[in-house]
Amino acid sequence: METKRAYINMEDPDPEALKEAAALLRSGEIVAFPTETVYGLGANALNAEACARIFEVKGRPQDNPLIVHVNSRMMADKLVARWTEAAEICARTLWPGPLTLILPKNDFVPDRVTAGLDTVAIRMPDHPVALALIEESGLPLAAPSANLSGRPSPTTGSHVWEDMRGRIPLILDAGSCEVGLESTVLDVSGEVPVILRPGGLAREELEKVLGPVELDHPSASSVPRSPGLKYRHYAPRGEMYVVVGAREKVLDRISQEIKKGHYQHKKIGILCTLESAPHIQTEQPDLLYVLGSQARPREVAASLFAGLRLCDQRGIELVLAEGFEEGGLGLAIMNRLEKASGHKTLYV
Ligand code: TXA
Ligand code: MG
Repeated sequence: METKRAYINMEDPDPEALKEAAALLRSGEIVAFPTETVYGLGANALNAEACARIFEVKGRPQDNPLIVHVNSRMMADKLVARWTEAAEICARTLWPGPLTLILPKNDFVPDRVTAGLDTVAIRMPDHPVALALIEESGLPLAAPSANLSGRPSPTTGSHVWEDMRGRIPLILDAGSCEVGLESTVLDVSGEVPVILRPGGLAREELEKVLGPVELDHPSASSVPRSPGLKYRHYAPRGEMYVVVGAREKVLDRISQEIKKGHYQHKKIGILCTLESAPHIQTEQPDLLYVLGSQARPREVAASLFAGLRLCDQRGIELVLAEGFEEGGLGLAIMNRLEKASGHKTLYV
């Protein structure tokens, strides 16, 4: 299949490109589109066959449900059996934004979308192109991140091109995603709101409007409440470690590991903060990727997946990442780093 890449201005989306994308979606095709978190691989959420193709195109396990993207509360109403008070508050105060709400589904939502669960994941993205595309098509869009299953989520049109070229008819390319981490998945179907996947909206922000919010800790032995969490994800091809502890010790350990790696003739990539970069530079890793300043976690979040992808492009065999404090966005950043490394954390 030939893939068209249409560059689209985020501030002023080209109506022709939107019309073409909407027509494809209405005819049951898949279109990649930008959101503020990561790019999505969208299809008509009410068309089970179109949604089944998303799984094929991505190589996604069948039991991992999709998020449905809407542009209005009214559109969300059509998918949901029952709203809870917490859900009402979130939708009113935090949408559009990097927050996905899990609610009881109604019969309009195909089982293919929810992988047979009786709940549906819904989100209103905060991106003019995503919102305009939903508006133009008149459809709720089921969309997972637009990466091949297992790879880091795409935060630029080029990342989508890398993974989806030849597999889908159209990519809407609006450049970089501002948040760079996927949405926070919040189960608001029960008594107490529970974060199933930390993401672009921090727990602290949720607690400001909801009061106490729990964090699901999926353990290896239990079935996670968010099915996607049990799969290896975001992984670069090289072996990866996250180094966690007091900064001095982390820098020492990374230096040691670089020396060891050099001795074994490995190509070494480092993901670290702006503050740590000068210290690590002296050990001459093959790739030194600065994620951003320790003081600006948004910067780190926005550049993380691009850094993981760059390691692959450079043929890096050993990746060492500096760990982060788990407050605010740090929780989601550490979640992604730990998953990318297959939970190989070095505590120092
Ligand atoms: O920011 C995002 O959320 C991006 C953009 C495109 O919106 N989408 C995204 O989708 O990250 P995906 O498919 O890569 O991740 C969806 C996550 C998975 O962990 C999945 O298991 C979970 O949401 N999920 C979907 N429906 C669910 C449900 N009914 N109950 C629990 N978890 C659900
Ligand atoms: Mg994903």
